[in-house]
Amino acid sequence: MNSAPRSEIVRSRCFDAFEREFVRSPEILVRAPGRVNLIGEHTDYTQGLVLPCAIDREIWVAVAARSDGRVRAHAVDFRGDASADSGQTLEFKMDGVHPGGGFDDYVCGVIAALLEADVQIAGCDIAIASDLPMGAGLSSSAALCVALCHGMLATQGLTPDARDVARLAHRAESHFVGVQCGILDQFAVALGSRDHALRIDCRSQESEPVPFPGRDLSILISDSGVKRKLAAGSGEQDAGTGYRERVAQCTAALAAVVEMSDEFAPAQSLRDVEADWLPSLEPEMDPVVFRRLRHVVRENERVDACVAALSRAAGPDLEAVGNILNAGHASLRDDYEVSIPELDVLCEEASRVDGVYGSRMTGAGFGGSALHLVRSDAVVPAREEIGARFRARFGRTPTMLIVKASDGATVESPSRS
Ligand code: GLA
Repeated sequence: MNSAPRSEIVRSRCFDAFEREFVRSPEILVRAPGRVNLIGEHTDYTQGLVLPCAIDREIWVAVAARSDGRVRAHAVDFRGDASADSGQTLEFKMDGVHPGGGFDDYVCGVIAALLEADVQIAGCDIAIASDLPMGAGLSSSAALCVALCHGMLATQGLTPDARDVARLAHRAESHFVGVQCGILDQFAVALGSRDHALRIDCRSQESEPVPFPGRDLSILISDSGVKRKLAAGSGEQDAGTGYRERVAQCTAALAAVVEMSDEFAPAQSLRDVEADWLPSLEPEMDPVVFRRLRHVVRENERVDACVAALSRAAGPDLEAVGNILNAGHASLRDDYEVSIPELDVLCEEASRVDGVYGSRMTGAGFGGSALHLVRSDAVVPAREEIGARFRARFGRTPTMLIVKASDGATVESPSRS
């Protein structure tokens, strides 16, 4: 378990809030981290490759079962999330679960996914605390769904495989909350491993840990401050429309590829499209759809190039890793068109700062955060300088976090500790 003091503080806040609010002790405590994706963006919903890390910013959930068909959920704090004010408690009946646009959607979504999977939930009390920024592209919603799934299953004495929990959380988020996302976030949150990134093959759903050289290389995240949410109907930047449009363009790209020739016809997904097909596809395809396709094909290649650079027998090639990140950002900006000026400036300015190997936007885009990989002995001054350069352009300081590659979700039956 992650024993960082920060983690302990959030854990206690969660535990205390549960006892205060429900006047009894929780049966289960779950810690679920956020994630940052090193490379492999917008590839998961076309069965591609991704390379995320779980990070040491997390959501804690305390749960105890009820038997009266009621659910009470108390969000002690969701940093920066307007939809879940400090101290808010929601109460509803199990048979009345409907998406309403707030954080209770995730609670309802998880309950619906569990009932669908024949898990007999008859109600529960839940407290939630977090130090994971919301809407910053760090998968706070996946962390919440994974934590709730683990917690509710554990109250039933069930301890399923982390992959199954990730799949249930994915169903909760995509079916009930209404986001047709891939499996990147939930797998990273559920299966992350300390000091490692995770190469996930979204076709086979197999994953393998890839050593991350955290002593030499630090992960710096800068939040553009442009909040975005994939779920429809939120007041924040509606990334949902852009995201759905990209999913549809990938579907159109596959249809165009398959129709093009007998050689390409067997392709089942964009994962099957080979890079050396691109020159013959380009003149025949709609230019926008072709650029989306080119991003996906090259991005899958970048994941394996990055794994190779991190795993070199002679030690990780950090310059190569940085260049791969920079190329990934250019492709998201120019071919996939999901970046925004604030993220472009963060990446561009960071490239002029000492110790920065590479930068890219991370997550769905349309807002959220940029990720910088920085030489560890230079990360604190780099954070100051990137912040100052951003301030000079936009007149405000971005929130910046230095994070570590951490373990995925963990479950405990608490004593007060
Ligand atoms: C969001 C989605 C993921 C993935 C990324 C883009 O985080 O939830 O499934 O598609 O965007 O890589």
